[in-house]
Amino acid sequence: MDNRPIGVFDSGLGGLTAVKELRRLAPQEEIVYFGDTGRVPYGSRSRETIIRYARQDVAFLRTFDLKAIVIACGTVSTTALDVLAAENDIPLWGVVEAAAQAAARATRNGRVGLIGTQATIRSGAYERRIAGEDPSIRVVARACPLFVPLVENGRFQVGDVVAETVAAEYLAPIKAAGVDTLVLGCTHYPLLTEVIGAYMGPGVTLVNVGEQCAVRVVERLAAMDALTGREEPGESRFYVSDRVEDFARLASLFLQRDVGEAVEQVDIYRY
Ligand code: DGL
Repeated sequence: MDNRPIGVFDSGLGGLTAVKELRRLAPQEEIVYFGDTGRVPYGSRSRETIIRYARQDVAFLRTFDLKAIVIACGTVSTTALDVLAAENDIPLWGVVEAAAQAAARATRNGRVGLIGTQATIRSGAYERRIAGEDPSIRVVARACPLFVPLVENGRFQVGDVVAETVAAEYLAPIKAAGVDTLVLGCTHYPLLTEVIGAYMGPGVTLVNVGEQCAVRVVERLAAMDALTGREEPGESRFYVSDRVEDFARLASLFLQRDVGEAVEQVDIYRY
């Protein structure tokens, strides 16, 4: 048993998709979340910059006594996980492995769509993992760089004409390829689930990487005998690198509870 909190980070709001599922599966766990809202998006940046930012994110989280750190960001998971894992003596888990397995299990016709940030698609990490599960699966990948700013600006509701237009343009070739499974390879994208699902149609299974990663985190903690022994609900604390107000509003909307009091700003350049 380990009562220490779990650290979770992302470039912004996207990692909340993992937090939401973690809180559903293991409500007694305490969570310390960092969203690098001052520097989002990461996905359009170089590998060197993503690694530099991710090192600071991990260094900040390591000021807390944590039992594990969850990289709830597709971009950092596909681009910097190996580097971070080699530098840190704490379990660090990314989103790719569980999502690749879920996609390989879900597809019936062997055609899987993958959407993510430019850095994620460039890395080829999901494709390698999916091929490791089943080399016969064909992956059709596309970077969707406008999705993250849409989400960070709260533009993810059905009926939002900008979100729907952007989604239709990005997803058209993936839909035309006849995929029956679509990996939302960036943790921000599940906030657009309804928009994406409406365009792709009911026959396409959407894989939420944040959710899959949370399921895997709970399994791993259980296997390590490191789940908390606490009986009351665990607290979540949120730290951001820019204004707390926007994050608090959108996070409260997404998590369906008021997190306003639990959000603080940090100067990430100190780490
Ligand atoms: N949530 C991050 C991801 O999963 C967003 C990346 C970005 O900031 O561009 O890739």
